[in-house]
Amino acid sequence: MKELDGKHIVLGLSGGIACYKSAELCRLLIKQGASVQVVMTEAAAQFITPVTMQALSNRPVYGSQWDAREPNHMPHINLSRGADAILIAPCSADFFARLAQGRADELLSLLCLARPADRVPLLLAPAMNREMWAHPATQRNLAQVAQDGAVVLGVGHGDQACGETGDGRMLEPAELLEEVIAFFTPKLLAGQRVLVTAGPTFESIDPVRGITNHSSGKMGFAIARAAREAGAEVTLVAGPVHLPTPHGVRRVNVRSAQEMLAVTEPQAQDATVFIATAAVADWRPATQSEQKIKKDGSGQTPVLGFVENPDILATVAQSERARSGQLFCVGFAAESHDLLAHASAKRERKGVPLLVGNIGPATFGQDDNALLLVDAQGHRELPHASKRVLARQLVAEIARRLP
Ligand code: CTP
Repeated sequence: MKELDGKHIVLGLSGGIACYKSAELCRLLIKQGASVQVVMTEAAAQFITPVTMQALSNRPVYGSQWDAREPNHMPHINLSRGADAILIAPCSADFFARLAQGRADELLSLLCLARPADRVPLLLAPAMNREMWAHPATQRNLAQVAQDGAVVLGVGHGDQACGETGDGRMLEPAELLEEVIAFFTPKLLAGQRVLVTAGPTFESIDPVRGITNHSSGKMGFAIARAAREAGAEVTLVAGPVHLPTPHGVRRVNVRSAQEMLAVTEPQAQDATVFIATAAVADWRPATQSEQKIKKDGSGQTPVLGFVENPDILATVAQSERARSGQLFCVGFAAESHDLLAHASAKRERKGVPLLVGNIGPATFGQDDNALLLVDAQGHRELPHASKRVLARQLVAEIARRLP
């Protein structure tokens, strides 16, 4: 199943250098199953040709309200009625001004004005120079269009085509795709603040060596993404993994279990849901050598002593907020056998309302998994599926259990 199967998107391009990214955005939307109808302003056609957009979308591009191809001569009506959403990317400063004023003297602003606002949402991806972005007139227009019901997406920060650096870059195509997918996701966790731990921890032996495990972090990252799509504010505390941060998620990188606890405990003071997916090392070397431990040529191996790491989940689950029901805690169990028995026992031991069991060796590093949910009422299986799908199902299961 693709993420945007059956969705019809009108992709509007207004004039700006970010138009070059709209070609990629169009491809990504189509790859996820959407049909895309491109509409371009005259200015947009100065930056990228309609030929490119037509070839990518496999549909004729519209650019004029006087287009004679429509039998009723009303492209603004015909194009806006069938859309599941209108996405303007890039949305220039001038286009914001047009929308704010309700202008209708060219096709794209005309069709935005003519759309049935109660059922065709309007998503705007701003793209402009940082001074234009910061100008009070632009900010005023942004606030106005948001008040009129449009969804104003964020902007990126960084180098701009003009050579300046600051806010106002259009989000990257992959980020915009995530925004569109998130837009269509039911907001089951609206108003929730979700804290997720993910990945392995790394426990140093000396400056060049350490102990870690095979956790890839994929399940935790998928959960963080699904939670943010469901409307939550999400903080992801990640051990050392090579995964991109899901769009819109705040990420804090840590290495060791102690660091993970030091970051997680204060964050939990502000969270309403805590999901501990991290494969935290149970033990760390009792001493860490400041210098690399060298072979001395004697054939003797070094003797490593270990101490137990703090249990992050149990610590958070015992906090006042968790015990008073203000913080809903979810634990994970990576087992190799007897999943139900071990997961049930672990739920009791960690003192959490919901524990999610999985078979560790079968899932580490993979893109799919199967989950066993254990709570006070019993257990339920989420059968084998991609971690993306399971993450969404788990988010729905958590939402159902919140007060
Ligand atoms: N966990 C944690 N801190 C630890 C160890 C585990 O927060 N120091 C969390 C994990 O993130 C997971 C759950 O506790 O949500 C279960 O961890 P697991 O390592 O599977 O269980 P253990 O408590 O280590 O039990 P065992 O070694 O017997 O399997």
